[in-house]
Amino acid sequence: MIVVPGILKATAERLGAAGRAWLEGLPALIEELEAMWAITAGDLAGEGFTGLAVQVTQADGTEAVLKLGIPDGLGGIAPFSHEIDVLLLADGAPYVRVLRHDYDRRAMLLERLGRPLGHLGLSVEAQLDAIVRTLPPGWTRVAGAPLGTDAEKAASVRGLIEGRWSSLGRPCSERTVRLANEYATRRERAFDPDTAVLIHGDAHPGNVLETSEGSGAYALIDPAGLIGEPAHDLAVPLRERTDELLAGDCVERLQGWCEFLAGATDVDVDAIWEWAFVERVSVGFIFLGFGMDEDARKNLHVADLISERC
Ligand SMILES: Nc1ncnc2c1ncn2[C@@H]1O[C@H](COP(=O)(O)OP(=O)(O)O)[C@@H](O)[C@H]1O
Ligand SMILES: [Mg+2]
Repeated sequence: MIVVPGILKATAERLGAAGRAWLEGLPALIEELEAMWAITAGDLAGEGFTGLAVQVTQADGTEAVLKLGIPDGLGGIAPFSHEIDVLLLADGAPYVRVLRHDYDRRAMLLERLGRPLGHLGLSVEAQLDAIVRTLPPGWTRVAGAPLGTDAEKAASVRGLIEGRWSSLGRPCSERTVRLANEYATRRERAFDPDTAVLIHGDAHPGNVLETSEGSGAYALIDPAGLIGEPAHDLAVPLRERTDELLAGDCVERLQGWCEFLAGATDVDVDAIWEWAFVERVSVGFIFLGFGMDEDARKNLHVADLISERC
């Protein structure tokens, strides 16, 4: 029997009756999909925040993963159909391959990948090196795709910060709010539909998986999926590094990581820096909304240290 991870249970319960019904219906849903897709479910594949990932075996013996999304409607979390759309649009490497999907049941059968990059005991630098080698082949032009843009994301982050700063009890300095707004405005204005590409938008080390154990090659799961600039994609893995940043001079360390990513890709270093700050403050506020106060506090503390020096 599958035991739903506590973190996923908590997210589903925030949805109220719909979330509880989804949790209760999981065993029946898995059974139904086992019959529909000729798969046999095994153990959990890993811990998710918005979806259940289960190891499965297909009729021909091939291993795969069944991903089931929580019901739609939680603020700040895209509907599961969006994740399906983005993975179908990306159509494989460097993204995980979709073997089957079902919009109504919020279900996908995915190729089985290996361990998350964040679980391999690698240094931040080694993780960034892996990410910067994995993302670029995914930066393709996808004209006309019905996805949100960086410009919209930057504007919504500005709205979130301005709208919630007072009601959340001023969780960061006023200087941090000003700097996040300034950077978000700059990134919004920099959006250029003629050069924008598909970006993953959430490539933290839990969403970058070994293609197979020990291969040193990686694939991307769980995309936010936006049309935007590569700098944004490269900035996401920098947004939650707090302990590593607090172990030294946080501004110098962060600048060093931005320069490394820029040097490996020819992407503008300032654009990476700006997105990393916008993302850091944004997830700080999102964490607060989810009651994840400790993570939020750390994130915003580092943001305050950075904004004091910028
Ligand atoms: N295709 C896959 N192959 C192997 N493990 C996977 C696969 N998809 C998900 N997982 C595991 O499940 C975890 C949660 O999946 P994810 O899609 O990121 O869920 P969430 O949307 O809740 O973050 C991942 O960090 C990973 O450990
Ligand atoms: Mg994930």
